[in-house]
Order: sequence, then C-alpha cells, then structure tokens
Amino acid sequence: MINQIRPVPSTPDVSRNSVRENTTNFHHQIAPKEKKLIEIITVPNPSGQKNQKNVAITFDTKLINNILSKAYSKVSTTEIATPECLAKLVKRKPDLVFSGVKYFEFDGNQIWLNDVLDLNKICYIGSNHAALDLEHNKGVAKLLVKKAGIITADYVVIKKSEEPTYKNMGIAYPVFVKPVIGGDSIGIDDLSLVFNREQLDTKIKQIFDALNCDVLVESYLVGREFSVGILEDELSSVLTAMPIEIIAPKNHRGHRLLDFDIKRLDQETVRKVKNKTLHEKLSEVGKSVFKALGGRSFGRIDIRLCAKGLPHFVEANLMPGLSKGYFYRSCSINLDMTYDEMILLLCSNRLNSC
Ligand SMILES: Nc1ncnc2c1ncn2[C@@H]1O[C@H](COP(=O)(O)OP(=O)(O)O)[C@@H](O)[C@H]1O
Ligand SMILES: [Mg+2]
Repeated sequence: MINQIRPVPSTPDVSRNSVRENTTNFHHQIAPKEKKLIEIITVPNPSGQKNQKNVAITFDTKLINNILSKAYSKVSTTEIATPECLAKLVKRKPDLVFSGVKYFEFDGNQIWLNDVLDLNKICYIGSNHAALDLEHNKGVAKLLVKKAGIITADYVVIKKSEEPTYKNMGIAYPVFVKPVIGGDSIGIDDLSLVFNREQLDTKIKQIFDALNCDVLVESYLVGREFSVGILEDELSSVLTAMPIEIIAPKNHRGHRLLDFDIKRLDQETVRKVKNKTLHEKLSEVGKSVFKALGGRSFGRIDIRLCAKGLPHFVEANLMPGLSKGYFYRSCSINLDMTYDEMILLLCSNRLNSC
C-alpha cells in the first residue's frame, strides 16, 4: 500500500482537544499517486443556472480535478448529456464517481445517478438515493427524526391540493413558514416569520404560487443557529461531528434568519462553538440525525435553539455543497483541515470501504 492517501498519526494537542475529544484524525498526507480511475460527473447547464434542481452538490469542477489529480493516477471530468453518455460511464466502471448530480432527465424520465451506480457496483461519494429522498422532504425528515427521539419544532405540512386544512393547525404563533422541499433558503424571506393568520395566508400563498410546492409551518425557534458537519469514517463507522455557529445579521424586526438574500449576499458570519457542553450537545444531535436518516460518508445538519436553549433539528443536508461554504468551514474550524485535505478525505474514505 505505498500509493495511498493515509491519515497522519494524531499528535496530542491539549488546546484543541477541548472540542476534539473522540474525533478521528482526518489529516492526510499525499503519498505517490494511487492507481485509481476517478470520474467527476457533471450535467449540462446551458443557461448557467446557479440552482439546478437535479444538482445537489455544487463545486468548482476544475479545482476538484486538480486536487484529485495530485493523488490519483487518472482523473477525468465527463458531462453526461444523454443515456449513451451514461451507458459509457457504466462501461468504463471508474473506481469512484465524484459528483453532485442527483438525477438526469432523459425524455422526461428521471434517472438517478446513484441508483445507476449502485446497480453497477460503482462507488460514489455521499449518500444513496433512499437517504437523499428522506432528507429532501423536510416534513418526512422531521417525522423520522422525531420518531428517533430527537427534538424538532412542532410542525404541519400544508399540501397545495388541500389549502383549507390549515385553518386549525394547533401551533402557537409565531411560526416559521417555508417550502417543504428545496435549499439555499429559496422561498425564505422576512415574511417567513409569521405572527398572525393574515400573514400566514400571505406567505403560504406566496410559496404555492412562486414555487408550486407544499409548505412546512413550524414553531419559530428563537435562539442561536448552528450547522453540524458530519464525517463518517467508513471503515469503523465512527462519526465525527463538527458544529459551527452561523450568525445572520438582525433584520429590521430584530430577528436573525438565514434567508435567501442573506445567503446570496454572504452577510452571515460563521464561528467556532467554544462552549464544550454546547459543542457536545450539538454533536450528539447532529450524529443522531445523520444515523436516523441513513446518511453515509458526510453531511451537514442544521440546528436552532429554542427559547429554553434546547437544540432542535431544522433540516439535514446529506449532499452539502462542496465549495468553500458551511461544510468546508465546519471541517476547517473543528479539524484544522484544508480544502484539499477535505476533498481527498471524502474520496479516500469512500475508496477504502468500497
Ligand atoms: N423553525 C424555524 N425557526 C426559526 N428559523 C428557522 C426555522 N426554520 C428555518 N429557519 C431559518 O431559515 C433558514 C433556512 O431554513 P432551512 O430549513 O435550513 O432551509 P434551506 O434548506 O434553504 O437551508 C434557517 O437557516 C434558519 O435561519
Ligand atoms: Mg438549511
């Protein structure tokens, strides 16, 4: 095993161990290139859209190719535009597919990349289709998480087809109103925080009309916001949780919400969770959610505190963005990991267990 990316042995670091106890050491050194065929898979994006609905993980393809090329003997990038391209990929049988694509749409049919890869015993980074389905619908994820004994805000899902049923939803105001599917805070704005029936009607209608999807109404969580990066050591199944605090600026009503504009304009700040007890509690919730949803390899769990300071599950991202956003920052803040180390780890971790 000379041509392997392997962990650097841990060195004790008393100052950091306050938040790093029981974590696997994820630092890697680059040995000679490993003889592996890695394919980065993309889909066409003719209009240059930022949020393609069939692409979950966004990253800079060239940068990833450069990083992986330092460690693996053959790294290529392929755009899959037709069923034939997909068939050729299967035939090439790479050792690992690195992709953020969820599905292809060929002649109106959805074909999930991870299903095709599973069927053909080809490894890929991240979770399988079944787990992604559970995470995708925030109502379904909340139900499962609640069943697993993890705290999440009380909620109801308002179906577009059943508009009148929310008249007696049984949740006290203020409530938070958002699309039941989607990410990047699409559909979330100042109007999401709702104090009365009139505002509720307005926001629900806005989501129905603009996004044509069901609506999640849940108790407003007034406290601080966190996201917990999760890394799974796939050989041992040990999970490492990497909480960060995300602080949005106060809006004109004094609330801190990570809404669409705040994320788009990068106005939030991210910081380390220094309090050891809070770090542990957030880590525990993050890991439990990841397990309850059947996550694999890596993910990011969003959490907010209620007025009493209890961590509540908000939503899971089992295909978190792999640019230099929250997931990367959770790795760098908690484990001093560089971006290259993170990308290489996601690959070596998967390859070691395939
Ligand atoms: N129940 C809630 N109470 C308070 N704020 C919430 C609640 N749900 C969501 N938010 C706010 O809205 C943001 C986006 O919601 P989230 O469900 O994480 O959607 P996305 O998938 O777009 O990230 C959260 O980061 C948080 O600031
Ligand atoms: Mg979120």
